This record gives sequence, structure tokens and C-alpha cells, in this order.
Amino acid sequence: MKPFALRDLVDDRPQDGVFRVNRALFRDQALFDLEMKHVFEGGWVFVGLATQAENPHDYFTNFLGRVPIIIQRDGEGTLRCFVNACPHKGVRLLQKLCGNARRHVCPYHSWTFDSAGANKNIKWQKAGRYAPGFDEENHDLATVAKFGEYRGFLFASLNADVPSLEEHLGETRKLIDLIVDKSPDGVELVPGRVVFTYAANWKMQLENCSDQYHFTSTHPSYIRILDQRAKEQVNEVVQSSIGAADFWQEDASGVTGGTMSFDHGHVLNWGIMPVSSALPEFERAEQLAQLHGVAKRNWMFNMRNLTIFPNLQLAENASSQMRVIRPIAAGMTEMQTWCIAPRGESAQARSFRIRQYEDFFNPTGMATPDDTVCYEEAQIGMAEQDRPWLQGHARGLGASIEGGNDWSDMIGMKPARSVLSDAQLCDESLFGSYYRAWAQRMAGVLS
Ligand code: FES
Ligand SMILES: [Fe+2]
Repeated sequence: MKPFALRDLVDDRPQDGVFRVNRALFRDQALFDLEMKHVFEGGWVFVGLATQAENPHDYFTNFLGRVPIIIQRDGEGTLRCFVNACPHKGVRLLQKLCGNARRHVCPYHSWTFDSAGANKNIKWQKAGRYAPGFDEENHDLATVAKFGEYRGFLFASLNADVPSLEEHLGETRKLIDLIVDKSPDGVELVPGRVVFTYAANWKMQLENCSDQYHFTSTHPSYIRILDQRAKEQVNEVVQSSIGAADFWQEDASGVTGGTMSFDHGHVLNWGIMPVSSALPEFERAEQLAQLHGVAKRNWMFNMRNLTIFPNLQLAENASSQMRVIRPIAAGMTEMQTWCIAPRGESAQARSFRIRQYEDFFNPTGMATPDDTVCYEEAQIGMAEQDRPWLQGHARGLGASIEGGNDWSDMIGMKPARSVLSDAQLCDESLFGSYYRAWAQRMAGVLS
């Protein structure tokens, strides 16, 4: 591969007020392969929700980087994470996305495993005249080195040499709490997973989730429709729509929201939203304030886009979405998305949430296609050229401070850096957190 040096890819010079990223990070296939090995297969990656395998022997399948995995609840109720590849000749054991099975029989030569990953049968083993060396080998499914859970969110790492999950998530656990604590019973995925691909690098999606700068430019038709509906007030969708003006309301000092960035590459952008009937949570507003205090309840209503590096995004803006990013190639990414919702909300609130959800999100919604087209256009512009440095990570650098602010203090959260903004500041400096985490995982790999 071309001998990239880390400093040629991420130009991080806080003393000079410079943060730049090289286009090669979005384009170069050799770099992509290194990312797979060291970012997606070398550290913590989100793999699913515990509710996706709720009952004994329930399972679902996924990937850790390029490695297929199974997450399964065994007969005792313990969740486990295995490599989804038969030890015999490597065939992927399970092809379905999810299911329930006490036994898994490999489709190639019928080696059989239980729901705890233990090998239960090797077909015609005695007749096979194996030499003693074979018996000394472990024939169970390979266990993924690290597997952990925070409040139902499951993470795994193929590399055992990683910080604890608690340390990896750090302060963002308080942001996950804002989602889970909306119901005493936690959250669940609304049935119906959407999968789509776009022809661009995975980091386009990584950034876009918290890119407030693009909203009015990329989604004018969505904003016009919201405005039009607000005038007309004629049907159920109209009544359940969040108005464009709802997203970023001003506080007394002119702040409409801001960004926070955290160690290990996680970021949040947020906007002030009132405790309003425009959100399905409104039916529990009083109860949530009593249970968690007014400040935390109000934060539950704020617009929040959280990214847990490198592949989980929890978007609470128009409805609530869980996104999982799966890089396929330097110029190809698969997205899996679900509506994520508090358990036990009323049928009316759930239907309200789903209507808002399908309005904004997914390839059939009014926002997602606008974004993915921009990613693909950006990918075209990532071609190698004389000026390799992108200028998309500098906005807000002059407003970024170390630590938190009054808004993070309200819920006792301590980000590494933060920006408070008005409607037009639209911080891009938060993305520095991604590339610093990226550089950390790639350190020692690139010169
Ligand atoms: S590859 Fe699985 S039994 Fe042969
Ligand atoms: Fe967008």
C-alpha cells in the first residue's frame, strides 16, 4: 500500500487552530482494510440490543468488522457472542438474521453446536479415524474475546486488549440513560428493520448524524412540507409533525443547542426542544419529571444525535432511530436502521412515533435520501487530487472549550469538549473526536 503516515491523514494541531482530514481516509481501499482490522476488529463495536434475543435460545446474527458473529441467549438465559463460522471448514453456520434454536447444524457436514456454542456432535466421529491431535483441539464455536452490556446495549471486541466497556462508553452512559429511562421497562426495537446501502465511505454517515450545518441546505423540501402542514392542519400526520422551528429553540442567552465530544470518539449534537405534545413522550412528561427530576426529563425532550464510535447512532429528533453502520468497502456502506421506542408507551403514542419515523427516516422518508445522495456526491469528490485536505472540520473550533457547560452540568455530564451555539454556529469541530479515536486505533499501524 501507499506508505501513509498518520500526520499526513489527520492534521491535528490545536496550538495552531488547525484540524484537517485527508480525502484518502474516504477513498483508499488499503486504508479501509486497515480500518477494518484495527478500528472495527481491534476495539469495541456495537452489536445489538439484548431485547433482540430476549428468550432462551433466541439468537441474532451480525458482523464485527468482516467477521460474522452470532449473539445468542443460552438455555440458562446468558447472552453469549460467538464467531458465526464452523470450526470444521469455516462455513457460516447461521444465515438467518434472527431466530430461536437449541441446536445449530452446519449445512456442510452437519457438525452440531448447542445454544452455548459447545460442539455437540461431529458426524461419524468414531468412524473418522482421527489422530490424537484432533481430540486435543477445541471444536466449540470460537468465543468473541470481549462481550459486554450497558443497559441492554451490547458491545463486543475481537481484541481482548481493550479498556473496559465502562471506560469505553464513559460519560455517554448518561446519554444512553436518557433513552432507556424514558420507560421503567427500558427500550425496544419496533419490529421492522430497514437495510440500505449507499456508494460512499462509512465516515460520511458517521459525520452526518451530528452535522447540523447541512440541515437547511440538504432538506429544504422537508422543511417546506412541515411549514405547509403547519398551515393546513388537516390530518393525523400534520398533527404528529414536529415543526422545523421546534428543533432548536432559544434559551434566555440565545443558545439553541450545541455539541459535546467525549473520549474514545463519541459525540453528541443537541438542540433545545420544549416539553411539547409534538413528541410521543409527552404522555409521560409528568411521570418522568417525578422519577428523574425536571432537568433530566427536559433533556429527554431535547433533540439529540448521539454517535458511539465507530458504528452506533441514536438519533432522537423527528422520532427516534437506532442506526448501525457497517462498512463494506472504501466506497460502499450498509446501514441498518430501526425505530427504537420506550416499552409500554400507549398505542396512540406508538403510532404517533411510527408516523413521525416514517416521515423523516429511511430510504422512503423525506430526509434520508437527501443525505445519501450527498454522501455519494462527496465520494466522487474524494478522488485523489493536489489539494488533499478537506475543510469540513474547522467550523466551531474557535468556540470549542475543554469540558462542559451549564447544559451538561444540568445532568451532571462531563464531556471532554463542548460548544454552545446559536442556530447558525453549527459546530463541525466535534468530529475531531472521531478522527482522534480513529488515529488512536490506527496508531502503530501507520508510521
Ligand atoms: S464446514 Fe461445518 S461441518 Fe463442515
Ligand atoms: Fe440530513
